[in-house]
Amino acid sequence: MEEIRALQQALGVSPENVHIRMLLAGKLMEREMFQQAEAQYRTGLKISPDERELLIGLSRCYAAQGKHSATLEATAYLLEVGPCGEGMILRARAMAALGRIDDARDVYLDAVAYDSTLVDEQLADLLGGVRQAGTPENTDDPEAIDAFERPSIDFAAVGGMDEVKEAINMRIVHPLRNRELFEAYGKRMGGGVLLYGPPGCGKTLLARATAGEIRSRFYSVGLHDILDMWIGNSEKHLHGVFEQARRCAPCVLFFDEVDALAASRADLRHSGGRNVINQFLSEMDGLSSNEGVLVLAATNTPWYIDSAFRRPGRFDRMIFVPPPDKPARIEIWRLHLENKPTGKIDLDKLAGQTKGFSGADIRAAVDLAVEDALARAMKTGRRELLETRSLAAAAGRIVPSTTEWFATARNYVTYANEGGAYDDIANYLRGGR
Ligand SMILES: Nc1ncnc2c1ncn2[C@@H]1O[C@H](COP(=O)(O)OP(=O)(O)O)[C@@H](O)[C@H]1O
Ligand SMILES: [Mg+2]
Repeated sequence: MEEIRALQQALGVSPENVHIRMLLAGKLMEREMFQQAEAQYRTGLKISPDERELLIGLSRCYAAQGKHSATLEATAYLLEVGPCGEGMILRARAMAALGRIDDARDVYLDAVAYDSTLVDEQLADLLGGVRQAGTPENTDDPEAIDAFERPSIDFAAVGGMDEVKEAINMRIVHPLRNRELFEAYGKRMGGGVLLYGPPGCGKTLLARATAGEIRSRFYSVGLHDILDMWIGNSEKHLHGVFEQARRCAPCVLFFDEVDALAASRADLRHSGGRNVINQFLSEMDGLSSNEGVLVLAATNTPWYIDSAFRRPGRFDRMIFVPPPDKPARIEIWRLHLENKPTGKIDLDKLAGQTKGFSGADIRAAVDLAVEDALARAMKTGRRELLETRSLAAAAGRIVPSTTEWFATARNYVTYANEGGAYDDIANYLRGGR
């Protein structure tokens, strides 16, 4: 009790000190004072919303109190911050307690695949004989399976991008929900969609959200890794990746910065580059129509993409992801201010002031404003809310990052728009949207 009182006193002096708060909450947990611990974790998270240790603590605390739905919420947030074995186990237990046995089994299997020391006989029995099946089907490359994650964010976490969302819906979300209808029309499920546009506008985010939307696995393939680490072996590895995706279907296979492939081809010294591209293309061709593997790729430099990628059956949809328009910016501001201490915010005004900003720029402005508010709070000893004014001021200090991209893109539009490859960018530049 001494200790607890000392920590409480320390917190009285510096309420913003998350570490002291975490220590206090830990002590309260040891004494099974769960309600008090919960309050401490929650206060800590208001100050530092992405603090992993706090999220783990809160998840444990909810679990200890048998608050299963709350455990699900806390672990969802925790797993969004990063993989966490204990978080997955807590989540699986809560799901099992709520009768969601199938979901619980999935999460448990993910946990064990992530960290084999987490095997939990009791839980495994409860979930019905998954003890050994836990480790996914053996493949040549046991490491690869670890990279399949299950994102917990869905389309709602992505502001704007309606056209892209709809294209993806037609490729995988609707076909999964209306299998028979799509089969009756002989519509393809899965396939390839290439997203391109200026950096920071949500391509990577949307790819992860797609997997969350269909509650499927998500495999993000680092092409740089494939090319660098498996020289001579890249083709085999790439083949393994596609094989694995097939086994996990429906799922999303994501090639971020896919231009790395093309760049390696241009650099002839990198022998084998051509082979990797050919392998990649033949894997794409080899995916038959209803296997349910959605191959998403993204690039900030579409001009490096080989036209062979665009053939039917490969990336037959290339979608331009422009900077967010005003309604999208409103949404992005709102998303990034969620769960932050704010006063009344004039989103319309902020969106109006941030034309040309990418989603990442808006997020950076929020981060700046948060830092300022914290600095002020340290001085005044009071909680300082984020206000429209401080957010607008922070945005004023950010140089929108899409301008430079468009300067380059304009050259390609003007001098290299053969076959109308850059028509979408041209339209956008003309303000035709
Ligand atoms: N449309 C959006 N909605 C919400 N947040 C966004 C959006 N676009 C970008 N962001 C923020 O910016 C970060 C970087 O975006 P990212 O998806 O990596 O961009 P890209 O892949 O197009 O370069 C995201 O993690 C997110 O925080
Ligand atoms: Mg990206």
